[in-house]
Amino acid sequence: MNWLRSLLMPAPGSAYASEVDDLFLLILAISAFFFLLIAGSLSYFVWRYRRRRPDEITPHISHNFKLEVAWAVIPLIIVVILFFLGFNSYMNARIGPGEALEIQVRGKRWVWEFEYPDGMRTVNEIYIPVNRPVRFIMTSEDVIHSFYVPSFRVKMDVLPNRYTSLWFHPVEEGVHTMLCAEYCGRGHSDMLARIHVVSEEKYREWQEQGDVRLGSMPLAELGRLLYDSHGCATCHSLDGSRREGPSLKGIFGATHAMRDGSSVVVDENYLRESILEPQARIVAGYEAIMPTYQGLLRERELAALIEFIKTQK
Ligand code: CUA
Repeated sequence: MNWLRSLLMPAPGSAYASEVDDLFLLILAISAFFFLLIAGSLSYFVWRYRRRRPDEITPHISHNFKLEVAWAVIPLIIVVILFFLGFNSYMNARIGPGEALEIQVRGKRWVWEFEYPDGMRTVNEIYIPVNRPVRFIMTSEDVIHSFYVPSFRVKMDVLPNRYTSLWFHPVEEGVHTMLCAEYCGRGHSDMLARIHVVSEEKYREWQEQGDVRLGSMPLAELGRLLYDSHGCATCHSLDGSRREGPSLKGIFGATHAMRDGSSVVVDENYLRESILEPQARIVAGYEAIMPTYQGLLRERELAALIEFIKTQK
């Protein structure tokens, strides 16, 4: 069965993933069996009882008591068994262990923001230690999103004005993709995050120093990386085309008309303000929908983004 499992589903990354897969495969097998049985006997009967002569009359058959009881009772028993199996693994998936690393998740158009117990915040990227249960407490700042990690076999809606939660127990080191599974506007398909499952040691190292690879990267290159990973690309194009936000092409040094009638020369300070307090000044013709990145970028990362925008000529 393992080849079928790897053909149909991504490699399991959490403790209860294989339980979900087993149940799924069982239901699939039962459905396949009955599909073949019904479609097969239907085809056979069509052929076997076809009208052979023009004057042949169909015999009158009213019913068959034993057969009717059998095809009502057998499916009932199967469905009841599936219900208990499903309920059991649903409860296992819903009720987490008491001791878990708790991470706050905020969905907003169109990024995922994470906050650790110590106050550290990240965008579209998190690190979690292997072999330790993690619980996500989630809410949305605007519309309904849905937190979906296929390899962990978890999915849960993320709603405004309410908390939902889910937990999982990562069993292997690796990188997992997290998606938004509820249509939330034009940037829905860009609402991706990466979950890095790392050793306890690496996790502590990351907590202390962040991603060390980024520390020595040239500013403009780091800016490009942040532009792609922090959801900027969803609304700000690089080729001059219009999206939810102004394009970054040739923006540096240009003069922009604002909604309130004033005009602004795009310089370092204006870009900084636009990233940290996007609602402060809105370019004419655009909606004030950009979320703030206050507290989500280190000083060097801000400089990197500004540097990257400067290179977009
Ligand atoms: Cu958020 Cu779709």
